[in-house]
Amino acid sequence: MNQISPALADTASEARQPDLRRVNSNPDFWYPVAWSSDVRKGKTVGVTFAGIPIALVRPEEGGLFALYDRCPHRQVPLSQGIVNGQTVRCCYHGWAFGRSGRCIDVPYLGKGKLPNGVRSYPVREAGGLIFVFPGDPEKAKTVPFPKLAQTDNPAFKTRHFSPRVNCHYTFMHENLMDMNHQFLHRRQMGQIKARFLGQDRGEDFIEARYSFMRSGGQQPLAERLIFGKHKDLNGREQPVEEVVTIRTEYPYQTLRITDKDGDLIMDLWAAYVPVDKDQRVTQSFGLLSVLRPKTPLLIDVIWPVLGWFTNRIFLEDKDIVEMEQAAWNEVGYDRNVEIFPIVRELRELLVRCGCPQDVKPAPEPEKKPA
Ligand code: FES
Ligand SMILES: [Fe+2]
Repeated sequence: MNQISPALADTASEARQPDLRRVNSNPDFWYPVAWSSDVRKGKTVGVTFAGIPIALVRPEEGGLFALYDRCPHRQVPLSQGIVNGQTVRCCYHGWAFGRSGRCIDVPYLGKGKLPNGVRSYPVREAGGLIFVFPGDPEKAKTVPFPKLAQTDNPAFKTRHFSPRVNCHYTFMHENLMDMNHQFLHRRQMGQIKARFLGQDRGEDFIEARYSFMRSGGQQPLAERLIFGKHKDLNGREQPVEEVVTIRTEYPYQTLRITDKDGDLIMDLWAAYVPVDKDQRVTQSFGLLSVLRPKTPLLIDVIWPVLGWFTNRIFLEDKDIVEMEQAAWNEVGYDRNVEIFPIVRELRELLVRCGCPQDVKPAPEPEKKPA
């Protein structure tokens, strides 16, 4: 009788779930698509959400608006157009579209009926980011807007980052949630072991709490500047007293660090936004808020060190998730063998809250020859 090889019993087909890398981001949420500073007054910028082209238009007066980025006339991007009062005028024949997307002028039309316009998208700006609601615009009125780290708290200083990563957004969620991968960062952080403290979960979120133990290597400078020097136990394991809480609250992810008294010292908010139709390129947006030390100006010393450190860590993660995507591309389905319960539950959450593509389920695991 044929037997299924345990090594080939991949997570997706084992649970008969849709392939996680074929689960699209649910468009019925607020997604960041650009930094506010990228769209200056009187300018337009073209972005995409999962292959949908969107023109961001900022008039000289009044708020920004967002339109489907193709002129209905000849499909030229409106983001190539010019801002004219409260409209954007297509660069080709000069048709003008207002904030609702309605066509309000065709320069050569005379008395004829104006053609149909384009779709507009609900748009909001907060925390230095521009958000659009790509899904059902009715839902934009009720779907909660995320809390953006500590961007509105003067006790914190917030760093912005927005790396583009060549992988499906789900790899990003798995990477951050899974603190068992500190091994990857051993050169940056020393040998630290994550201790799982507990979890919490709901229909649309999962949260895991960890503390850490350093068993070798040096405490990195950035960590020491922010958290203070951890006790040196003369070669014995150093308990690290901070608690790290990682939470995927669909579709966002946060990482919060509290000190031994339970006070928040670091708050990271991240969104992973699919760029292309296949959703294999992710534009990440991150806000990292750090509690300002009591000594004024010390934050200015810490800032470049922290930037350098987080960037080094991030580059290691980027390489890894891109390798994971490349491996998926080779076989065309997800054959991961996931053993960590939190990550298994995270994967279920991402399937449950996302939009599985209309494709065949993952193939049955290969069978050993008889
Ligand atoms: S293509 Fe836009 S006005 Fe003609
Ligand atoms: Fe990492």
